[in-house]
Amino acid sequence: MRSHSVLSIAALLALATVPGTAFDDDIIYPKQQKEAFNTTEIPRAPLPWGKVNFLHTTDTHGWLDGHANIPSWGADWGDFVSFVMHMKDKALRKKVDLLLIDSGDFHDGGGLSDSTSPKGAVSDSIFENIDYDILTIGNHGVRTGAEALNIHHNLSRVFGDRFLTSNVDVKENGTFKSIGNRYRAFQTRNGLRIVAFGVTINDHGRDRSNTEVHDASWIFEQPWFDEVMKKEVDLYVLVGHAPTYAPCQDLKQDNPLVCLRDRIRNSTTKPIQLFGGHAHHRNFTCYDERSSGIESGKYCDTVGWVALNDVSSPTWSGAKALLDDEPHPNKSCAVGNQGDIQDIPYLLDRRYLDWNRVTFAYHTVNLEGDTSNPSVPASFDRPLGRKVTDDISKARLLLNLTHFLGCAKEDYCFNCKKVGQDGNIYELLKLALADTVVQKERAHLARVVLSNNGTIRDNIYQGPFTTGDAYAVVPFPNRFQYIANMSCHDFKKMTSNLSAKQDVSCIDDGDHNDSSVINEESHGSQSQSHLELRSIFDDRSYHPATFSHKPEQQNLEGKQHSPGYTTHDALGNDGDDTLHSPVIEDETYMNLFWANASFPNASHYPPSFDVVFTDYLAQRILDALKKTGAPYTEKDVKSYMPRTYTSRDVLVDYTARNWGQNGTECPIRKPGER
Ligand SMILES: *[C@@H]1O[C@H](CO)[C@@H](O)[C@H](O)[C@H]1NC(C)=O
Ligand SMILES: *[C@@H]1O[C@H](CO)[C@@H](O)[C@H](O)[C@H]1NC(C)=O
Ligand SMILES: *[C@@H]1O[C@H](CO)[C@@H](O)[C@H](O)[C@H]1NC(C)=O
Ligand SMILES: *[C@@H]1O[C@H](CO)[C@@H](O)[C@H](O)[C@H]1NC(C)=O
Ligand SMILES: *[C@@H]1O[C@H](CO)[C@@H](O)[C@H](O)[C@H]1NC(C)=O
Ligand SMILES: *[C@@H]1O[C@H](CO)[C@@H](O)[C@H](O)[C@H]1NC(C)=O
Ligand SMILES: *[C@@H]1O[C@H](CO)[C@@H](O)[C@H](O)[C@H]1NC(C)=O
Ligand SMILES: *[C@@H]1O[C@H](CO)[C@@H](O)[C@H](O)[C@H]1NC(C)=O
Ligand SMILES: *[C@@H]1O[C@H](CO)[C@@H](O)[C@H](O)[C@H]1NC(C)=O
Ligand SMILES: *[C@@H]1O[C@H](CO)[C@@H](O)[C@H](O)[C@H]1NC(C)=O
Ligand SMILES: *[C@@H]1O[C@H](CO)[C@@H](O)[C@H](O)[C@H]1NC(C)=O
Ligand SMILES: *[C@@H]1O[C@H](CO)[C@@H](O)[C@H](O)[C@H]1NC(C)=O
Repeated sequence: MRSHSVLSIAALLALATVPGTAFDDDIIYPKQQKEAFNTTEIPRAPLPWGKVNFLHTTDTHGWLDGHANIPSWGADWGDFVSFVMHMKDKALRKKVDLLLIDSGDFHDGGGLSDSTSPKGAVSDSIFENIDYDILTIGNHGVRTGAEALNIHHNLSRVFGDRFLTSNVDVKENGTFKSIGNRYRAFQTRNGLRIVAFGVTINDHGRDRSNTEVHDASWIFEQPWFDEVMKKEVDLYVLVGHAPTYAPCQDLKQDNPLVCLRDRIRNSTTKPIQLFGGHAHHRNFTCYDERSSGIESGKYCDTVGWVALNDVSSPTWSGAKALLDDEPHPNKSCAVGNQGDIQDIPYLLDRRYLDWNRVTFAYHTVNLEGDTSNPSVPASFDRPLGRKVTDDISKARLLLNLTHFLGCAKEDYCFNCKKVGQDGNIYELLKLALADTVVQKERAHLARVVLSNNGTIRDNIYQGPFTTGDAYAVVPFPNRFQYIANMSCHDFKKMTSNLSAKQDVSCIDDGDHNDSSVINEESHGSQSQSHLELRSIFDDRSYHPATFSHKPEQQNLEGKQHSPGYTTHDALGNDGDDTLHSPVIEDETYMNLFWANASFPNASHYPPSFDVVFTDYLAQRILDALKKTGAPYTEKDVKSYMPRTYTSRDVLVDYTARNWGQNGTECPIRKPGER
């Protein structure tokens, strides 16, 4: 597997010819991507190792190049490769098991995955350098039949019997077939007998004609399920692209991951370990004293760690006991977590690791330097890790992801700033829409440009803003269409029917003059869920997690923590491997909004104007116009911009034109700075 992936990236980079791009083969970046900043924050304590241990990633969404402006998440996939190799060596020395798990969603996010056709053509070859033991697909793998087929033919084949889709099919030549294997029954290096399944939630945005996501009851009716449930097993491992906490009440509708746990528990008392995803959170859930589940963040910001100290197995051939002088798991999911230790079948623990080199080196090869300025020793980097880092650097250049667009002078976020405030990313998007979405021939006419909150998938972080960042912030390419010269009254009725919170006051309707001021009071109303872009769990539960505009929290030595995850889960508050100050997430933006592109007086709309919108919104706009009796049909919807111009271009053009162009005078926000 490893040689295959190294070959394919090399071949891909060699085959691709980009005029004017030349690589100097002597330049090898020995560490994270060269633009990335080093963190100064070190983990709080060594990891507790048990006899059976897991490293878990999920929802990587192509983010294998790391997060250049966020020191806590600065590592790239090559650094992760080196980390995993060291951890595997450690497990060998300890004679314990270490299993690698991924819960899916490889694409739709970073430019590394999305700027190629098919998606993942480069990033999958990089991802494949981790020898995962079990992985599954994710709802973003079934948005289109072509994407599902790509995964069926490529990623799934590379991982072979480890790529599990217990409930996901793709249509090929008229026949539905499983994208990967339905289950995996295997013995670990140290003899533990495992049966694993991989399931994915059913996403409303799925390609219904070319993909199938079966519900849990379907799984339970399959002959292969019956067969595998007869096997002698020490531990069930359930990998899900699904949250771990949602209960299973209805087998036809609810989360297949938790339903699968319930079903297995109904037939055996054996331990069950769940690895969830899709939630984009860190979390840990206890179901009973022998079953629990972890969720391990998103976008390569987190590596999840689960350690089970003892899983009873007659075939175990590894270490008989754990070394006394090393930390090992001492928590339990047994109710109340106190009682007699004899009643507790096994102890366990979990940890959420920040995705940076300092963390990776701390847990494997020790750091050098003082703790306030730790440095990673050269022994950390493995040849394969360096190679992967180097491949990523080359791919980023080749795909034009490193092009500097402008300097972000501050953070722009979803939910740390109120509607209307500077630093709110949607306010920035409005400025950008007004500035860039202009049809020359109609530039003199009044217009509004509509978009919705799901357009944006990530924050913009203070510091250099590149083409790669622009992909990540607006990953979905939507075209711009318009209805010409719509009357203000029709527009007002239409937006009101779509429950838009931005008021409209038409110049000639005697509305009070200040009504276009954004109504902040009406935040509470959540009546627009029908409108929600790509209305899937992950948009609803999505919380970008790095902002705090509160004074930073201080630890005992008076050192300030940077904002980041502060996780409270079923085992307590000590899950985060590195301490952070909390992130403020108390504002949500309006679902539907628009930029007033050209009115001299923002509070008075002219009698008629062009209404421009993304093609994603077109049908809803037409439906609302119809409902409110306005005389517009599909025939009135025309292309506003050239077909090649999409929502992805908006921030690229705007920042290149309007933001500072000196990349060397563009600092990131340091821990402790506001
Ligand atoms: C990060 O640390 C490495 C040494 O470990 C150093 O070579 C590099 O210049 C540092 N990067 C930045 C942006 O300070
Ligand atoms: C598999 O990957 C290759 C390389 O990216 C691509 O050319 C091919 O189209 C993919 N297969 C499918 C079925 O998409
Ligand atoms: C599906 O059809 C294509 C084109 O006819 C063919 O190349 C391919 O082998 C077929 N695949 C299967 C699995 O039958
Ligand atoms: C498990 O058993 C309980 C109690 O009999 C039942 O209510 C539940 O529906 C079962 N769940 C599954 C997934 O089989
Ligand atoms: C974490 O899981 C618990 C159940 O263990 C659930 O109640 C809680 O809502 C989850 N938290 C988040 C942030 O998803
Ligand atoms: C549990 O283990 C941790 C180290 O992993 C240690 O700091 C803590 O004191 C232990 N707690 C108990 C109750 O033994
Ligand atoms: C990279 O992208 C930027 C922004 O779209 C563009 O201006 C530049 O010409 C591109 N560079 C190459 C080498 O394609
Ligand atoms: C727009 O429509 C109004 C009537 O609503 C009409 O008076 C006006 O001439 C139209 N303008 C253009 C540019 O078509
Ligand atoms: C939209 O219009 C339809 C038809 O008049 C009406 O039933 C519906 O309640 C309206 N929705 C809102 C949010 O005003
Ligand atoms: C709105 O109207 C009121 C009374 O008609 C007037 O006093 C006020 O100045 C107007 N405000 C604006 C912003 O035009
Ligand atoms: C979009 O707005 C709706 C309504 O306020 C909200 O429920 C949803 O979570 C928002 N989605 C995102 C991605 O912010
Ligand atoms: C960018 O800023 C640096 C540091 O202040 C300065 O030396 C350099 O001349 C500036 N470059 C341009 C093109 O203004």
